[in-house]
Amino acid sequence: MFMSSLYRAKPQDGVWWITGASSGIGRGVALEAARRGFTVIATARRLEALEDLSREADGFSGRIFPMPSDISDATAILRLVAQIEDKHGPISLAFLNAGTYRPVNAHPFDSDAFKDMFSVNVGGTINCLAAIMPLMCKRGWGQVALNASVAGYIGLPNSAAYSGTKAALIAIAESLKFDTDQYGVTMQVVNPGFVETPLTAKNDHPMPFLMPLDEAAKKICDGFEKEGFEITFPWQLSRILKGLRLLPYSLYFWLVGRATRA
Ligand SMILES: NC(=O)c1ccc[n+]([C@@H]2O[C@H](COP(=O)([O-])OP(=O)(O)OC[C@H]3O[C@@H](n4cnc5c(N)ncnc54)[C@H](OP(=O)(O)O)[C@@H]3O)[C@@H](O)[C@H]2O)c1
Repeated sequence: MFMSSLYRAKPQDGVWWITGASSGIGRGVALEAARRGFTVIATARRLEALEDLSREADGFSGRIFPMPSDISDATAILRLVAQIEDKHGPISLAFLNAGTYRPVNAHPFDSDAFKDMFSVNVGGTINCLAAIMPLMCKRGWGQVALNASVAGYIGLPNSAAYSGTKAALIAIAESLKFDTDQYGVTMQVVNPGFVETPLTAKNDHPMPFLMPLDEAAKKICDGFEKEGFEITFPWQLSRILKGLRLLPYSLYFWLVGRATRA
């Protein structure tokens, strides 16, 4: 009654487009998708890293084609999506994953860090949606997944900008789903906890339930094949943070402040 059977991408339908594919989660998911027989168009700014990725997929049943671009350039992204479809056929699944993280605090207040993170994580994802949504809605099929984070469930310490961008992405995906469902287009949100990538390698704080990249990539690709809207892992951290969100603020600030100061 509550589940509707929405479109799921198959290798014969078209290509996957993955942003932020030059490293970390995007790279891992591109390789896992190629292993599963999908053709992947890999986008990020660093061409050399994308070419390495493409070579790494030699011998897999699917292939990876590098098509570099900067997601914060709306015009370039519109052009890129048109080029992908001209050259490789329809985009069946778009994994809008590119993003960046820097810790920020109240004082000194680094407004540049805020603007950078909002420009890439939110603005860049919107540029990609603006390019892909009209094509998929017109066709009446397609699959889109935004890579947000469990950090978007609630404001976490040192993460005013990052949590803010990820909360925005979760709300964007939730809201768009009401419309995309009507068009036969599947909307999903991916909310990972800590995954071993160059982004988390910079962290000097504890990262509970840190997950190896290969395992995370498999969970994301499995989630793309299943019915659910949200793909989240590891389940322990996801449940803890969802539970914290339900607490009264006074208890939330006391508990998390105490745990993170310790
Ligand atoms: N790792 C985690 O624990 C974790 C947890 C939750 C959510 N996430 C999210 O997962 C996504 C990937 O993170 P990651 O850990 O894999 O980090 P990562 O290894 O640093 O990868 C970030 C990717 O984004 C690309 N990128 C950054 N700015 C871009 C831009 N303006 N245009 C195009 N591509 C851009 C980078 O490529 P170039 O530098 O070549 O452009 C890179 O491929 C992010 O959205 C992050 O917030 C990560």
